[in-house]
Amino acid sequence: MKRRRRCSRRASRRSNLICGWLLSTKALSPVHCRTIPQPPSGGAPFFGKLRHTPGCHSAATTGAQGMKRILMLAALGLMAASCASEQAQSPDPAFVQEAAQLADTYQANLQAELSAAIKQVGPVGAIGVCQSAAPAIAADLSSKGDLAVSRIARRNRNPDNAVPADLDALYQQLEREPLRAGKPHVVTATIGNREVFMRALPMKDQPCSQCHGASIAPEVKAAIATSYPNDRATGFTAGDLRGAMLVTRPVR
Ligand code: HEC
Repeated sequence: MKRRRRCSRRASRRSNLICGWLLSTKALSPVHCRTIPQPPSGGAPFFGKLRHTPGCHSAATTGAQGMKRILMLAALGLMAASCASEQAQSPDPAFVQEAAQLADTYQANLQAELSAAIKQVGPVGAIGVCQSAAPAIAADLSSKGDLAVSRIARRNRNPDNAVPADLDALYQQLEREPLRAGKPHVVTATIGNREVFMRALPMKDQPCSQCHGASIAPEVKAAIATSYPNDRATGFTAGDLRGAMLVTRPVR
């Protein structure tokens, strides 16, 4: 898999400063630095390196002279150094591949369980099935190696599925853009001592709306309220970000 350069937020801030300066000198072209989204004010610090945000590209001189030129070369050196150090900390492509497969397996197993339950016991009964099956399948799949899979959501049904504070900035990427080129948006990062894979779970009309939609049958609503008194997972329409698949692994 092709590895792309990317910048840590800390490094990217520095690079953005450098880029801004370079652009203002008009001596170098092309220089692009995309801004990496900042965490919410007051939120937890984000130490990750967003995989799909290539931060730095090389630049070519076009005739700057003397001191200006030396300063520019120094700036370029800094940019190159920050990009190189990030590359070492980006998630292992093998992890990303394994994580995608694990997320697929979890999603497929859960969906199979859910549709079977809806057929057999209807949506009211399926709520109980989902309540026990979802964490059980995740625990089973996570016990097989050092990859752990789960589902998370900001507007969650089960508070155990809340978005961890240190992953909030990553989750915000999915909130802004649940689909990318028509597919669930994937973001990956190395955060602290964990490699992280997060994939959007976009809301679908069927079967999701029966239990997460805007107009839910009264008996289903009642069953949800009994099992999940603090439910925040209704009122979604197709295409909304319902939640995300999360796969993590300790950095090896
Ligand atoms: C039969 C009702 C039902 C249907 C249909 C259903 N869900 Fe859920 N969903 C639940 C329940 C119950 C939970 C809480 C499970 C738990 O306790 O972990 C849940 C939890 C989730 C979560 C985990 C985050 C949270 O809110 O706790 C996501 C993400 C999710 N559902 C997405 C979907 C999507 C996408 C669909 C459609 C493909 C769907 N659900 C269809 C009942 C349903």
